[in-house]
Amino acid sequence: MKKRLSKTLSAAGIASRRAAEELIFSGRVLVNGEVVNLPQTLVDSQKDRIMVDGERIRGEERKVYFLINKPIGYLCTSAPGTKSILNLFSHIKLRLFTVGRLDKETSGLLLLTNDGAFANRVIHPSYNVTKEYLAKTGQEITPAHLEALSRGARVEGTFVKPVSVKKVRRGTVKIVVSEGKKHEVRQLLANAKLEVRELSRIRIGPLTLGSLPLGDYRELTEEELAQFS
Ligand code: URA
Repeated sequence: MKKRLSKTLSAAGIASRRAAEELIFSGRVLVNGEVVNLPQTLVDSQKDRIMVDGERIRGEERKVYFLINKPIGYLCTSAPGTKSILNLFSHIKLRLFTVGRLDKETSGLLLLTNDGAFANRVIHPSYNVTKEYLAKTGQEITPAHLEALSRGARVEGTFVKPVSVKKVRRGTVKIVVSEGKKHEVRQLLANAKLEVRELSRIRIGPLTLGSLPLGDYRELTEEELAQFS
């Protein structure tokens, strides 16, 4: 059965649909020996020889879903020689990727999977999955800070407005966003003249960290997964 190349790559657990399109645009995907630059190209994963970065892609693999409490100091990319969160999963012989990213200096809830459709469902703004962050600053949070945070800021060329902001303690604020722009929470805080000491993600949609210690991970339950279907 023929399917779009981008869909085939995400179904094979290579990346989210959006990231698969980027792989295709950057010329890293070959179909039957030829570079293909159009994500909508129709392919049959059983008959066509599809290669990504020189590695053959076959049909679908078993889908897995992990939730980790990411410690600071780890990157979410997999470039060779870097301290990547993926190194903690190197014993799992499946092509895992992170669902979105947390900055090296951000800790907290991060999902890893080989299911591109699931990743898309969590990341894409149209599904409105909210993400909650706890930011510690060295300053007393004032009503003016909260107002500036609520007004939003320009991030990666678009205007981002948090879903909610709430002072938790003297210098700690909770920020809920529904986009997934790079450094967006740090940008919102900088725009409100707040200096970040610690940033941690504590929730993605219905998923929370619970009592999971930093650096530990667990698989998502059937019930948790069903909430994203
Ligand atoms: N926003 C940020 O600024 N950093 C993160 O790690 C995640 C969201």
